[in-house]
Amino acid sequence: MRRIFLLGLPLVLGACEGRHNWLASGGAEAIRVEQLFWVLVVGAAVIWTLVIGAAVYAHRRQVDPSLEKQARQFIIWGGAVIPTVVVCALLVWGLVILRDITTKEGDLTVRVDGERWWWRVIYESPEGDVVTANEIRLPVDNTALFKLTADDVIHSFWVPALGGKMDMIPGRETELTLTPVETGSWGGLCAEFCGGAHALMRFDAIVMEEAAFNDWLAHEASPAEVAQDDAGLGVFLDEGCGACHTIRGTEAVGPVGPDLTHLASRERLGAGIYDMTPDNMAAWITDTHEMKPDIDMPPYPNLDGARLDQLVAFLMSLD
Ligand code: CUA
Repeated sequence: MRRIFLLGLPLVLGACEGRHNWLASGGAEAIRVEQLFWVLVVGAAVIWTLVIGAAVYAHRRQVDPSLEKQARQFIIWGGAVIPTVVVCALLVWGLVILRDITTKEGDLTVRVDGERWWWRVIYESPEGDVVTANEIRLPVDNTALFKLTADDVIHSFWVPALGGKMDMIPGRETELTLTPVETGSWGGLCAEFCGGAHALMRFDAIVMEEAAFNDWLAHEASPAEVAQDDAGLGVFLDEGCGACHTIRGTEAVGPVGPDLTHLASRERLGAGIYDMTPDNMAAWITDTHEMKPDIDMPPYPNLDGARLDQLVAFLMSLD
């Protein structure tokens, strides 16, 4: 038992570190939940100490029949009235937080569609939808309203450091607001088991200053800057990649997989799991199912030498 506990402890503590730390409180909603959490933890410790103290005291004391009436009072107040008041107060507090973080107005709206096993991300803007994938950028001190749905199985959208989480359900739209309060990069993940690559269904949530965010969104809305005679684009189209992927500004308009228009501007590859480097890109194309088992994209082991180099160089130029 003790060995299992000691082996498991680093796993549990590991969840408190780094990019997925839900106690990092980089968002207004996460801060509200964290306050409730600490009150629960400290309150539970105090109550536990008092109860154990009373039990030890009762065990050591001689039974004194003259104190029976006082003892009954103690049981009624300590065992029924005070717990009821405390639990009701916590319930009301929790419901108020829930109301505040689920009914906020958004300064911007982002639709996220859970796919197997990646994220289709669509920013609603007055000039039209801006489509991207697997990376969410947000302006600091603004409330983003997320409208969530899923293509075929249930996923759950969660950026632990900012707040959440919320199920993504096929045929339904769920909502969640996040209000980041500091800039930085946090990890997001799928929190509902959804099949083979569930554990590899991740994304980056990058919080930027508002002006930088607006520049990024305007750039994201623009088509790719590609020479139509680019050799790598030729390989991309020859191999049929454009049947699944869209690169705006080219013939590739496939709606199935992630939009690749500004692929290389993302920090990670494969839905938040590999660093965006030429080596990882090449491995992704040739050994797709080694890199991420169970996904729909087929591997292209036939690509090598100059054609692979051209394709990788082309994809890495899509910034
Ligand atoms: Cu998507 Cu788990």
